[in-house]
Amino acid sequence: MYKNILLEKSEGIGYITINRPKVLNALNKETMIELRDVVHEIGTDKDIKVVIVTGSGTKAFAAGADISEMHGMTALEGREWGKFSQKVFSDIENLSQPVIAAVNGYALGGGCELAMSCDIRIASENAKFGQPEVLLGVIPGFAGTQRLPRLVGKGKAKELLFTGEQIDAHEAYRISLVNKVVPHEELLSVAKAMAQKIQSCAPIAVQLCKVAVNEGLDTDLDTGVAYEAEVFGLCFATNDQKEGMSAFVEKRKAQFVGK
Ligand code: CAA
Repeated sequence: MYKNILLEKSEGIGYITINRPKVLNALNKETMIELRDVVHEIGTDKDIKVVIVTGSGTKAFAAGADISEMHGMTALEGREWGKFSQKVFSDIENLSQPVIAAVNGYALGGGCELAMSCDIRIASENAKFGQPEVLLGVIPGFAGTQRLPRLVGKGKAKELLFTGEQIDAHEAYRISLVNKVVPHEELLSVAKAMAQKIQSCAPIAVQLCKVAVNEGLDTDLDTGVAYEAEVFGLCFATNDQKEGMSAFVEKRKAQFVGK
């Protein structure tokens, strides 16, 4: 049982909801510790095939790290807070299951960084994105300076980081920060439909795609391509590869079991 996070498991999908709506789901230490624990719980739950992360209420996904908690921090405390939270977001990025962010409102600072640690972002038309840290005298501390340029390119990332400007969901889509924009009331159903589509595919193959992309993007092309060959080969050791290809040859729908 968590205080600041709702965790629901239904039909193979794990729903993580940041639940501090009175402060626009600001990420304080207690919430980040709970998020770490929730991610660990989901990562070890074999019944969960896809994860959806969202925010409670209609206004915010997460409006950033909790400023009231941070404002008295020393340099060393700030460093530890950043390192701890970076690790939590890396754990999300490295979850074996695909993770979809359903961004229902403000995704600012740590909130934008949380969305960027997910594999796929779906935004409500109401969503707003930004890294406003320079307006507070700091820089992004939960890997925003690293994930933002990887998603939108160096120039656009620097513009957003240097100005602290907020952008709407359509602009976020235009610069490839989000995968799609949907009417607010359809956000969770679209996220769920995507989760179900992913669930209908061979689970190990999906997980290995995730690993290959994540590992490959952190290295040079030749190393990434060599890694892909290893992982591609590994797929032939699964029952699902035999099933998937037999089903194609036999003109029937494949029944994947995740083995
Ligand atoms: N931390 C703590 N409290 C926050 C918060 C945050 N990041 N964001 C909002 N809140 C609180 C407000 O203080 C307010 O609380 P009270 O009702 O007790 O006054 C409540 O949430 C509602 O917020 P507002 O009244 O400000 O709502 P609004 O609609 O007028 O404005 C907003 C919405 C534009 C998102 C505005 O709240 C805002 O600018 N929030 C801060 C955004 C921000 O700077 N985020 C980055 C934080 S730093 C960071 O995240 C560093 C990092 O990289 C890890």
